[in-house]
Amino acid sequence: MAVDGNSNSFQNGGARGRIKTGIVGLDSMLYGGIPEKSQYIIAGGPGAGKTLMCFDILYRNAKMGVPCAFIALEEKPEDVIKNAKAAFADYTDIDELVQSNMLVVEGEDPATRISEQDGDESYSFGNIMSDIEAIAKTNNARLVAIDSFSVLRMLIGDDLKYRKSILAMITNMKRLGITSLITTEIKSSERKDLKFGIESFVFDGIITLYQNGQEDKRTLTMEIVKTRGTAHSWTLSPYDITAQGFRVFSIEQ
Ligand SMILES: Nc1ncnc2c1ncn2[C@@H]1O[C@H](COP(=O)(O)OP(=O)(O)OP(=O)(O)O)[C@@H](O)[C@H]1O
Ligand SMILES: [Mg+2]
Repeated sequence: MAVDGNSNSFQNGGARGRIKTGIVGLDSMLYGGIPEKSQYIIAGGPGAGKTLMCFDILYRNAKMGVPCAFIALEEKPEDVIKNAKAAFADYTDIDELVQSNMLVVEGEDPATRISEQDGDESYSFGNIMSDIEAIAKTNNARLVAIDSFSVLRMLIGDDLKYRKSILAMITNMKRLGITSLITTEIKSSERKDLKFGIESFVFDGIITLYQNGQEDKRTLTMEIVKTRGTAHSWTLSPYDITAQGFRVFSIEQ
């Protein structure tokens, strides 16, 4: 049984610096935030809010003065911004943060890469990684979101090669001093059906988002599955997507 969660130093972030998500309930569940230079997965079923959660965390960090980069691999960057503006109606300064380069939102189309490289998988993956690095360097981003990793999985069919590529990516991100949030899809939205891919074992932390159907009502809940080197909440917490961003109802608050 982990006892670290009762310690004030952990609640305040401990000795190692942390990147706060800025979402009060989520920071409580993470005992102060995400340890710097950690690489966390945000996993969830379709429409659970993975993209919006990443955007929200980056938006809040950009406002706190942390340079951030959102790398859109599935949607056009302008659509990511448009959807975020629609969901978070009270965030009226998104354009300002983008214009000032505190929040960089850029894209990379893996489909183009695949056809360009004529199916050379490792080359495509390597190119996307260097593009991600180049985007992050445009504003010296300390927090990067990659949405979604499932696209990269498609580029590398072989399990061993895939695992090696992820490890190389993680090492590189840490070397650059970047903390990252990487979305991945899980097939079912329900917790009981949760199955992890091999990538789950190599990342530093996993946050999962679930949608549970209850008769005619959908409920959203999230949990922290793992955080390396730090304790975390074990409870399943409801969350909501509102005009003022995500709200997470954690018992730790
Ligand atoms: N304007 C809005 N107001 C409130 N909630 C919204 C709004 N737009 C979207 N949502 C909620 O956010 C969800 C979509 O969020 P998001 O795109 O982040 O999900 P996702 O997990 O990234 O989905 P996908 O698997 O398709 O990538 C919707 O299912 C809906 O519940
Ligand atoms: Mg998405």
